[in-house]
Amino acid sequence: MTGSSIPALKLNDVQKHFGSFTAVKGVTEVFAPGELICVIGPNGAGKSTLLNMICGTLRSSSGSISFGDTTIDGLAPERIARLGIARKFQVPSVFESLTTFENLRLAAPPGTDLQALTLLLHKVHLAEDRDVRGADLPHGKKQWLEIGMALAMKPKVLLLDEPTAGLSVDETRDTTRFLKELTGQVTVIVIEHDMAFVRELAARTIVMHHGAVIASGPFEDIESNEMVRDVYLGRR
Ligand SMILES: Nc1ncnc2c1ncn2[C@@H]1O[C@H](COP(=O)(O)OP(=O)(O)OP(=O)(O)O)[C@@H](O)[C@H]1O
Ligand SMILES: [Mg+2]
Repeated sequence: MTGSSIPALKLNDVQKHFGSFTAVKGVTEVFAPGELICVIGPNGAGKSTLLNMICGTLRSSSGSISFGDTTIDGLAPERIARLGIARKFQVPSVFESLTTFENLRLAAPPGTDLQALTLLLHKVHLAEDRDVRGADLPHGKKQWLEIGMALAMKPKVLLLDEPTAGLSVDETRDTTRFLKELTGQVTVIVIEHDMAFVRELAARTIVMHHGAVIASGPFEDIESNEMVRDVYLGRR
């Protein structure tokens, strides 16, 4: 197998039980390097639980998760993060008193050069906000700064749980744009509820329901999938 054909991330029959309740049921998925993937599904489908197992904040009950050729399940979250799996948390992590640039510099490994930080600033569409303090950034841009801070560690995999929650229509559309621009550079797995966003993202879409993956494919196929429609209309 050549280096480029090794998946960035591989889930093999991953399950999560909470007592007698099974939140994630036998998920098997392969994510390619640089791939953009969207995970959708009704409330309680197991999406966040799946992401939490990948980044190590939850331990899987069975199955295996590998990152490149390293098995990562059971490793501490910090260790998984250091290997190259970044996660943007719901809790804001931006330092309000520091500027956009200072926040990025703080998140980057020591010694990261100015050019790399400037490039990153452009990547998350915040070049114009370089010297704006965290406290003064609008909500949407704060979200992007957090994504930038996660990218500062040069992860191979980036996990985003509902990154457009609370964003305006325009902010949501801009978020789609820059996530698409990351294609080929980092594997991005994004959980999302906003169907307009998912359609615009036009990525491979995985649908979860009652803990299982019920469909996976290009969004246009997912959108016309009868079973997926039924799930969203509450018919299954
Ligand atoms: N720590 C926990 N203990 C017990 N049950 C849990 C725990 N975490 C999640 N669950 C349950 O597991 C199921 C899946 O939850 P999860 O948060 O993964 O869903 P989700 O797809 O992210 O939903 P949402 O779209 O609402 O964010 C839910 O029924 C939830 O109540
Ligand atoms: Mg969730």
